[in-house]
This record gives sequence, C-alpha cells and structure tokens, in this order.
Amino acid sequence: MTAPALFTPVTLAAPEGPGLRVRNRAFVAPMCQYSVDAADGLPTAWHRQHLGSLAAGGFGMVVTEATGITPTARISPRDLGLWNDDQAQAHAPLVAFAHAHGVRAAIQLGHAGGKASTYPGLPGFASGTVPPGEGGWPTEGVSDAPVLPGLAPARALDQAGIDHVVAAFAAAAVRADQAGYDVVQIHAAHGYLLHQFLSPLTNTRTDRYGGGNAERARLLIEVVDAVRAVWPAHKPLGVRFSVTDWVPGGWDTDATVELSRTLVVKHGVSWLDASSGGLTSGADIPVGPGYQVGLAARLRAALSDTTATVSAVGLIVDAQQAETILATGQADAVSLGRAALRNPHWASGAAHDLGVARAQNPQPAPYWRSGW
Ligand SMILES: Cc1cc2nc3c(=O)[nH]c(=O)nc-3n(C[C@H](O)[C@H](O)[C@H](O)COP(=O)(O)O)c2cc1C
Repeated sequence: MTAPALFTPVTLAAPEGPGLRVRNRAFVAPMCQYSVDAADGLPTAWHRQHLGSLAAGGFGMVVTEATGITPTARISPRDLGLWNDDQAQAHAPLVAFAHAHGVRAAIQLGHAGGKASTYPGLPGFASGTVPPGEGGWPTEGVSDAPVLPGLAPARALDQAGIDHVVAAFAAAAVRADQAGYDVVQIHAAHGYLLHQFLSPLTNTRTDRYGGGNAERARLLIEVVDAVRAVWPAHKPLGVRFSVTDWVPGGWDTDATVELSRTLVVKHGVSWLDASSGGLTSGADIPVGPGYQVGLAARLRAALSDTTATVSAVGLIVDAQQAETILATGQADAVSLGRAALRNPHWASGAAHDLGVARAQNPQPAPYWRSGW
C-alpha cells in the first residue's frame, strides 16, 4: 500500500545543501501560551510540557509560539522572547527534546507593533492595551493610529526605529540557531508589525516604506534579508502571511502571490504558511472547515515552478480532511492549531486512522504499546 500523503516526508529547501527533510506533513502551528511567569521572556514548565507533548505526538514539525524579538515586540508581558542569551539557552533543551523524537523544531519570530503590550489572551484577563503602570509599555507601529479599536495609539517607527527592528530580527535568528532550531518562521500575519506595513489599510506612510505594494513590502524584505544573512544557509527560512485581509482595498491574495514569488526566488525564503485576517475588525471571514485552504492552493499553484513548500492552516481537524488537501495538491503540508491543543497526539492517531503500519507510526518508543 502506498503511504498516505500526510505521512510522506517533505523537504524544506535551503540556499545551500539538501534542505531539511521533515518526516511527515503534519505541522503544529505557532500558538501563544501566555505562560511566561516573570515577564522575562523565558520558557517555563508549561512550555516544556506543551511543546514536549506535541513533540511526542507524531507531528513532523512543531513551531514554537510568536516569540518577541525585543521586550517591546511582545504581544503581552507573558510572551516568550529571544532578545538575550539566557532565553536562547533556555530553548535548547526544548529543541533537543523534539530532535530526540525525530521532530523538527521551528520558531516564529515576531514583532507585534501597534498590537503589542496587550493583556494575555487567557480567561480572566481584560482585553486591550496594558498600561505602563501595570507592566505594559508604549508601542511602536506603522503609524500613530491604533491598529484596532480599544488599543492605545502607537508611535510611528522612524528610520532609526525600523533599523533597530530589522537588526533585532537578525539577532533573534542568531539566538534561534544557537538554541538549535531547524527553521525560523517570520511572523508577517495577523495584524502584527510586518502585516501592518504590508496592508494599505494600516500603512499610510509617505516615506520609502509606504505607497505601492513594493514600498509596503520593503520592511518585510529587509527583515528577510537581515535574517537570511545570519541564519545558516543550510537551514530553511519561512514566512507566515495573512494572505488576505478579507476587506476590499486591503492586502490581498494577488499581492501575497507576487511578494511570495519575490521572497522565494530572490531572498531565500522556502516555506510559506497561508493564514489570513487579524488586521481589522471589519473583515468578512468565511470561517468554516478548511476555510483558508483555497489561499494556500493559490500560492501553491502560483509557485509550482519553485522549490517553495506551502502549508495550509485553519480548521483542519481530521486525518482524512488533511489527506485530501495534500492528495489533491492544494498544499504541501498542513499546520494544525486548536486540533493539536485538543489532542497533542493528533498525528499519531491520524497515522493510525490512515492505515500507516504500526512500525511506521511516528509515535515515540515509550508509547509503542498504544499501537493496535
Ligand atoms: C491559543 C492560540 C494561540 C495562537 N498563537 C499564535 C501565534 O503565536 N502565532 C500565530 O501566527 N498564530 C497564532 N495562532 C493562530 C494559529 O496558529 C492558527 O493559525 C489558527 O488557530 C487557525 O488554525 P486552527 O483552526 O487549526 O486552530 C494562535 C491560535 C491559538 C488557538
């Protein structure tokens, strides 16, 4: 019997060498845990169990949550950070655990821009901006305007601030390498800083970072180039996009397709994760099973002459659904969020459901006797 597409290895290309072979096409999407204890950006026991259980769950690759490149880049005071060496060292055992179980480890590096300094997205917390007196900080973004209603206005980044952001992405990538990560994913989605620059809904700048699509993409390209310059050439680099704002006049699929091609062909990006939305409360998002798969399919088709790997995400919840997405060529991999939180062993179960032989089930050895 031929292996199901979901459990066929996939290779993320890199500028040098054979690229990164990932044992199967079920990835875990980055998910903020808001579980840092001391606002120091350091992983805690929660992160060890969270990422550890996912690493033991049969997935091909696990992506660590949006991790702040600077203290002010964090979405909330309880986010992970990668702006100092203690943080890099603390990630090393998390990565080593994944590797010990055959799982690739990626980390999403992000800057929340005008959506920084918000309350943790956990039950019992208020929503909106955390004031400086309560552990928050003044935010910097694409413009002075609040990104969403209820958020404090940001200060528009000037050139020195932009240069600092670009350098901080690169410095965080160096630390991700020191921690042993296989892949860096740059967060350009969900209304955070890089998406704020990409979208005409939020980017009203009149300097070289505003104007047409090329100018609005300048910051992301500068970040990609700075990261690629320090990120080892044998390691893949990814970008997560909000492929569309789902709003007329916003950032859209055509713009993402064009920019993705540029990033893949000229800037050493080889993995695109096709998310959407997050920039405006006025978006009309057709939420339902696999609702963003069509966005991945557009990217996949447009980049079929390149080495890019495209992953689909969004309400992909069961094995046969994932298998159909891959077998019909709509994406090269699937990223799972909430389904993986509900069942960290989703991928082992999917292997069983799709008829993968017990000996090939990607479950860790101590769980061998769960096979049947
Ligand atoms: C608890 C939680 C935290 C999330 N944090 C992040 C994040 O850090 N970075 C990101 O790009 N998306 C984040 N997301 C979005 C997910 O990665 C994913 O794109 C989204 O949940 C849709 O996929 P799903 O339907 O499989 O959950 C988060 C989602 C959840 C549920």
